[in-house]
Amino acid sequence: MSRSASYAHTATAPSAAQSLIPAQGNGRRLQQRLSILQQEVAEIVTEAAETGNHTNGPRVQALEEAFKGYLKVADAIAVNSGSSALRAACELLRLPPGSEIIIPAYTFIMTAYSVNDAFAVDPQSGTFTKGGLTPVFVDIDPQTYTLDPASVREALSERTAAIIAVHMLGQMADMRPLLDLADEYRLFVIEDAAQAHGATYCDPRTNHIYAAGSMGDCGCFSLSDVKNIGSMGSDAGLLTLTTRLGSRLPSLSAEARAWRNTGRLGRHRYEHQTWGIRARMDEYSAAECLAQLRSLDRWVARRQQIAARYSAALAGTSFTAPYIAPGRRHAFFNYMVKAPTLEARHLLESRLRAAGIQVADTYSVVPDQPLYRQGLLPCRIVAAERAREIAQLLVAIPCYPELREEEIARIEEVLSHCP
Ligand SMILES: Cc1ncc(COP(=O)(O)O)c(C=O)c1O
Repeated sequence: MSRSASYAHTATAPSAAQSLIPAQGNGRRLQQRLSILQQEVAEIVTEAAETGNHTNGPRVQALEEAFKGYLKVADAIAVNSGSSALRAACELLRLPPGSEIIIPAYTFIMTAYSVNDAFAVDPQSGTFTKGGLTPVFVDIDPQTYTLDPASVREALSERTAAIIAVHMLGQMADMRPLLDLADEYRLFVIEDAAQAHGATYCDPRTNHIYAAGSMGDCGCFSLSDVKNIGSMGSDAGLLTLTTRLGSRLPSLSAEARAWRNTGRLGRHRYEHQTWGIRARMDEYSAAECLAQLRSLDRWVARRQQIAARYSAALAGTSFTAPYIAPGRRHAFFNYMVKAPTLEARHLLESRLRAAGIQVADTYSVVPDQPLYRQGLLPCRIVAAERAREIAQLLVAIPCYPELREEEIARIEEVLSHCP
């Protein structure tokens, strides 16, 4: 493959034989699984016709057990989205009004909105206060684009109650220093693992390898259709609880199950002993996620192979391939290339489009979104400069197991011609 030396290189237009390469693989996954899905749906509908129940049934329980085993966590509670899992984590930990929760400036908006959305709870009176929790934005590590522990330390205040470690793009945040900070200041660590199914982290202290969602106090997974595994219909998500929660674990497990089901703790349908919302997972999503969980490691390995080929194609160019930190297994939910300049970013995007490769929008810096920027939602911005600098230079390259050989080669060809 030859490499263009100039930014003025014009990519050849895709030939008629070249089909469009979609930015994400969910459509193809749906196609591949269609006949199995149809069978699953038919079975669930038949059962539901007899029992009148198609949420929180046996498949939801089986999914929870399977996730518990896969992640090696104390409990796993299925909910209706990753956002619900995040809100549940913030609410169930019963953080006092005025608490601050530290989050990275570079994440998906729902990490932040879920904090604003959650109730705070007064530890003395037990009173619930809406809007009592404040997200505090800090900067990201320049190589992994995940939460920077030094920036977290800078943001600590008397009000800090928790840290949300977002495993952005599929790579786990540097959990050891974050857990050390949490232990030193008695903070909770919530893992936002919405993008990190299949990612792992080797704890440098013990050499123990942890799955994403198993290392903090709670983990929050999205199981929407675009994720490494996900429901093909409605949204879905999952909350994990770990042994770090200690003696609080049994009550939190019970409260999480009540929380997703209108605050119902006992069997009586209309007695609501605690706070809750409607956030149950349906049986269709559970069956589908359960089936996909069995393929997760194989699919992640394929994502890694494809990513390695792209990174090799980029070697020697001025573009930066994703950095994989030592001891971490990157699950490559996204493969993001960093351009050296804005001009170079636009050049690569136009070449990708010219070659029939769809270019997805990339994540924005959350504190720069209108409701935070204009002070309309409570937040505190400590640092976001690095996030701003990096976010504007990233280009998302299609990277999913359903890509065909010809398509991977086509993408490699474009990457290898980067200046
Ligand atoms: C980092 C992050 N957090 C939270 C969420 C919210 O998950 P959901 O869309 O399932 O509500 C997402 C979804 O993409 C995400 O990427």
